Amino acid sequence: MRQHAFSLRMHLTELRGSGQLDRELADIILDLVSAAKIISCEVNHAGLIDIQGIAGVTNVHGEDVQKLDIYSNDLLVSILRQTGSACGIASEESEDMIAPSTAGHSSNYIIFFDPLDGSSNIDVNISIGTIFSVYRRVSQSGPAQLDDFLRKGSHQVAAGYFVYGSSTMLVLTTGKGVTGFTLDQTSGQFLRSHTEIRVPERGKIYSCNEGNAAKWDEGTKQYVQSLKTAQPDGRGSYSARYVGSLVADFHRNLLKGGIFLYPGDYSDASKPPKGKLRLMYEANPMSMIVEAAGGAATDGRTRILDIQAEDIHHRVPLIIGSAADVADYEAYVAAGGRP
Ligand code: AHG
Ligand code: MN
Ligand code: MN
Repeated sequence: MRQHAFSLRMHLTELRGSGQLDRELADIILDLVSAAKIISCEVNHAGLIDIQGIAGVTNVHGEDVQKLDIYSNDLLVSILRQTGSACGIASEESEDMIAPSTAGHSSNYIIFFDPLDGSSNIDVNISIGTIFSVYRRVSQSGPAQLDDFLRKGSHQVAAGYFVYGSSTMLVLTTGKGVTGFTLDQTSGQFLRSHTEIRVPERGKIYSCNEGNAAKWDEGTKQYVQSLKTAQPDGRGSYSARYVGSLVADFHRNLLKGGIFLYPGDYSDASKPPKGKLRLMYEANPMSMIVEAAGGAATDGRTRILDIQAEDIHHRVPLIIGSAADVADYEAYVAAGGRP
């Protein structure tokens, strides 16, 4: 007999019952879901936009074609402003913090998002996603202040991502455990498909842009090299898997185990190493998820969730995945080469 479907709404009700979530936070998640369902449809139609444009009348939105990451950003902002469920909003696509609507002034929550992650992959039909991170405000009321935004990732109360892949999924944590939901195209609901996701203690996959290897520090170079030979405990060498969408690369490694690396760029010796990925929109939410699933995340020396944000677009090196693999990486970096 077919198992009874367990919807995201039922899951949120369950979390509220166990005191892990309040109504306001549940509403934020449901706002994000509303946006993600629309983004998912638009992503599916992306290949048709030019074809429909040829008619010269209007495009699918009845206006000029917008780049999908701007479209996704504007959609998320407008939904969150309309519902007033956040008192502060920050997006990878906006230089400054986004003012909440008056309705949001009484909300207790700040939200960060990367509206479309991996967007350079839209044209080639590779999975992309939306990443989000939620904090409780520290100010009392009114629109959120800078101090509400500049936080450590350990203060997050919820984090997750939508992946627009062969199916559309939501992966969510509110701190205890990680749960996956798959969008059922027939009912239009996210249904619980992955309960208690755990990242394997050690994996066999490494994911990085090796084209950047010349810019890496010696510890990173030697660590990645070490994965290409048979492992001391009798395991074979690791497999390389990298598509260049963090959501897709992270999602695969979360389920299968392994390590994702976007190390710092050390090519200018006169300056501190440069990270590419964004702390607030990418590194922190993925790190909260990976830790809740039993994994680890570091910039090489410091746990990602302990890094104090210096500005909302702060960038960091990100090494994330199976706990034993991340520990091996940190040992290589600490030793400046093979430990
Ligand atoms: P975004 O599309 O949000 O700008 O993020 C792109 C990021 C991330 O998704 C991915 O892990 C990384 O950039 C890929 O970078 P490289 O192309 O330098 O490998
Ligand atoms: Mn991104
Ligand atoms: Mn993006």
